[in-house]
Amino acid sequence: MDFKRKGKLPWLSHLLYSVKHRGLMNTCLMGLKEWQKERELGINTFGDKAANELSIECSSKEGGHLYQPSSSVIFEKAMNSLPFNFSDKVFLDIGSGKGRALILAAEAGFKKVIGVEYAAELNDIAHTNIEKVKDRFPNTEFVLSEGDALQYDIPEEVDVIYLFNPFDEHAVRNLGHKVKATFATQKKIHLIYVHPVHSNVFEETFGMPISVVKNGKGIPDVAVFSTRVIDE
Ligand SMILES: C[S@@+](CC[C@H](N)C(=O)[O-])C[C@H]1O[C@@H](n2cnc3c(N)ncnc32)[C@H](O)[C@@H]1O
Repeated sequence: MDFKRKGKLPWLSHLLYSVKHRGLMNTCLMGLKEWQKERELGINTFGDKAANELSIECSSKEGGHLYQPSSSVIFEKAMNSLPFNFSDKVFLDIGSGKGRALILAAEAGFKKVIGVEYAAELNDIAHTNIEKVKDRFPNTEFVLSEGDALQYDIPEEVDVIYLFNPFDEHAVRNLGHKVKATFATQKKIHLIYVHPVHSNVFEETFGMPISVVKNGKGIPDVAVFSTRVIDE
């Protein structure tokens, strides 16, 4: 599947991709759960968008992948693999799109969720979605930042960095170096890489993942990495 360009019938190519990697029954069940989640939260995060359909003003656009919302089913599995409670933790979504992962993180109990997204149209929709749910999550602070994630100064308060296949290998490598440099002497943080097509790049920087969540066909849905603190 081409992660950068949208095909003529994007819903069909996603359906076929999912059936191939998860099987027909799991694909139908997941689709139903995602639709129910949108209704339950009263948000709208569906609909693919390729970078060339969006007004993005930075050179990182070249390496950017399609917008697609996170699956709540995979998100929950990823969170279950983290060995701590979230009520005093800060979550950062790299390429936050329409805000779905941020809202799921609020639902999981994070005290603060931060999104950085370079497409203004998607970020505007994220604002609308968050406005709709923020009263449900009074203990969570929401912060949206518009801009290139590769130029973004990652706040030291961050504990968990989430990325759902936002960009190509080159950009994943740059992000890995940035994360390593930011937290080298600070603290141990966790990186959750969903649909980890360039997992090998993070392995070069952080070593082997501390856990991998696979789908029914044995294909990794999530790879979780942790940073090491120098002098630990
Ligand atoms: C697969 S979508 C995931 C959206 C969201 N994180 C979620 O899970 O629902 C990847 C997102 O990354 C964004 N993106 C890609 N490269 C980026 C960059 N360099 N800086 C900021 N956002 C980027 C895309 O516009 C897209 O919204």
